[in-house]
Amino acid sequence: MEKKRIKIFDTTLRDGEQSPGCSMNLQEKLELAKQLEKLNVDVIEAGFAISSPGDFKAVREIAKMIKNASVASLARTIKKDIDAAYEAVKYAKYPRIHMFIATSDIHMKYKLKMEPEVVYQRAVEMVTYAKKLCADIEFTCEDATRTDKDFLCRVIEGVIEAGATVINIPDTVGYTVPKEYYELIKYVIKKVKGIDKVDISVHCHNDLGLAVANSLAAIEAGATQIECTLNGIGERAGNAALEEIVMTLDTRKDIYDYYTKIETRNIYPASQLVSKLTGVKAQPNKAIVGDNAFAHEAGIHQHGVLVNDKTYEIMRPESVGIARNKMILGKHSGRHAFVDYLSKLGYELSEQNLEDVFKQFKLLADKKKVVSDLDLVALVSQKQLEVPKTYELDTFIINSGNVISSMCSVKVRKDGQLIEGVSVGDGPIDALFNAVESIVGYKIRLKDYGLNSVTDGKDAQGEAYVKIEYKDVVYHGRGLSVDIIQASVLAYIDAVNQVIHYGL
Ligand code: KIV
Ligand code: ZN
Repeated sequence: MEKKRIKIFDTTLRDGEQSPGCSMNLQEKLELAKQLEKLNVDVIEAGFAISSPGDFKAVREIAKMIKNASVASLARTIKKDIDAAYEAVKYAKYPRIHMFIATSDIHMKYKLKMEPEVVYQRAVEMVTYAKKLCADIEFTCEDATRTDKDFLCRVIEGVIEAGATVINIPDTVGYTVPKEYYELIKYVIKKVKGIDKVDISVHCHNDLGLAVANSLAAIEAGATQIECTLNGIGERAGNAALEEIVMTLDTRKDIYDYYTKIETRNIYPASQLVSKLTGVKAQPNKAIVGDNAFAHEAGIHQHGVLVNDKTYEIMRPESVGIARNKMILGKHSGRHAFVDYLSKLGYELSEQNLEDVFKQFKLLADKKKVVSDLDLVALVSQKQLEVPKTYELDTFIINSGNVISSMCSVKVRKDGQLIEGVSVGDGPIDALFNAVESIVGYKIRLKDYGLNSVTDGKDAQGEAYVKIEYKDVVYHGRGLSVDIIQASVLAYIDAVNQVIHYGL
């Protein structure tokens, strides 16, 4: 039997970005959109244009930049939402407006305070309106899995007649189970006139941990598009994870007659980028992209994998872009091998960025015995997110201990001048951050700070993440160094530079 292609609709930039702690600024969203294009997703949901001027701009800039995927903006079934969505996506090669209205009794009664008939009329009327602006209209019956089935079918039929090209039947609250969802999709396919002319999309939340299983059940029932996010980020317990759906279809092609056009080698770099942009790392045991997803701790397992990796590995780490902790390049490696390896990891950098990252790699190779692909991913991501260095770290000195207050001096360069800040604090990090704040001279609120180790071992690079608030806007800073204190101060200075670049 001929295999059927499943379209991948990525909503990391909309549903994912909506989840706590996952907000991104314009530059960060553009970086992620580029990575999504490299992944070869079919649709990028770039945001919810009406929700804020920042979201509008992000959708518009992404629409201008992306050439190989549709770019969608979410909109309620309200004219001003639809107009904003269209204004933002109209620059795209393949623009899409994604409209939604809730159809379950509970949502209509308590949230919308609208009678079902009014919801039906509004849905049809607004799709008719949107269709005059944009050819590609996706329509979502929010909370579909708790909607009366016959009302659901009626709304779907109405909006198809009005011109919808994609129908989304989401499990908004993560309530359904695979068997029930399968039957719901089958029911809609059987009952709705015109359903064979449109794509059937599913969008599952993970409140019961079933988002991926439900999406797969929907594919078997006839769904043709899956809505998902990288690392499964999203409202509450998150959305169906892109990497899990794609790799299930790929790994079990013996039983699934479906495929996607995702470049699986680019999954890991994309996942890493999401973690770096949001500061929210996938849990270590996260399928496919977690730190332990391909780690074998038990002796019996390690032995098995050494003899034949298929004993305990159902897919190759390389197939998702991971070549874990292998000695891949050393301090004698040339530029050519370096470029070649980066491209195998799915990265293409501009000449200047390449030059900079190569220099950093050489410095790192001098300090570390083993430079792994994880180190390279960290260096490249750092580079991709860099903004002009208004302030640049020169030196720092700390005096700290468990019986004294920490004291430090930080020297930074600005416009060729050396500026020193001296401060005390509750611990070395607090002292350093206070010193930088005294240099820049404005009140910064630290909202979050975290530190991850890029690889194992005493000489591992530390990756620091800082979230600060300045004038009610949140900025992210990142720092990378084999010295964790240095990584932290670099992250703080980077966050300050982000404020200057984007905010001042
Ligand atoms: O979960 C949901 O139903 C949604 C829709 C707006 C698509 O996110
Ligand atoms: Zn959702």
